[in-house]
Amino acid sequence: MTVAICPGTFDPITCGHLDIISRACKYFDRFIVGVAANPFKQPLFTLEERTHMLEKATAGLTNVEVTAFDTLLIDFARKVGATAIVKGLRAISDFEYEFQMAQINQAMDEEVETFFVMANPEYTFISSSAVREVASYGGAIKGLVPENLELELVEMFARKFGKLKKGAV
Ligand code: COA
Repeated sequence: MTVAICPGTFDPITCGHLDIISRACKYFDRFIVGVAANPFKQPLFTLEERTHMLEKATAGLTNVEVTAFDTLLIDFARKVGATAIVKGLRAISDFEYEFQMAQINQAMDEEVETFFVMANPEYTFISSSAVREVASYGGAIKGLVPENLELELVEMFARKFGKLKKGAV
């Protein structure tokens, strides 16, 4: 059985993340989306909120599971029996960082291979921080985040930023 992990902070999940997950999951038997606690990034959304968003966004993908983790990625991979790490690449600017991460992970366990999936050009401009910034000003996040999460996310952002602007979806 082939098991892969697709890790990230997902603060929040975007259409770009969902594109990578839905395209890559077809090539593995079990596809585990790993939601990183990532205290270094001080995420806006709690681990529970980010996990919930991932579960809702991937509900239609039968071999996809969502699990939170707060360890080294490679330890999480060993724990769930994954031999593949799947990451998305949007632009050359992503490459240097991702290359370094893949090498660190390979140095820690050469049995776990990192696979890169090229982002769909439609989504290369999207990032979680851009979504957070747009939402913080009450801008529309439609088309940036998974469709079945749009309304809920607008409400969640409103709670975080203390305002809910008209036309935010
Ligand atoms: N579409 C849209 N956005 C994407 C994307 C895609 N396909 N792929 C990445 N991104 C964006 C994210 O939205 C995020 O944007 P932001 O910085 O503007 O918010 C950015 O890329 C970084 O994504 P993030 O999910 O934070 O991933 P990361 O590359 O920083 O790594 C982990 C996150 C969980 C994989 C990494 O921190 C980790 O492995 N942590 C565990 C500890 C560990 O083992 N560290 C390695 C050894 S030092």
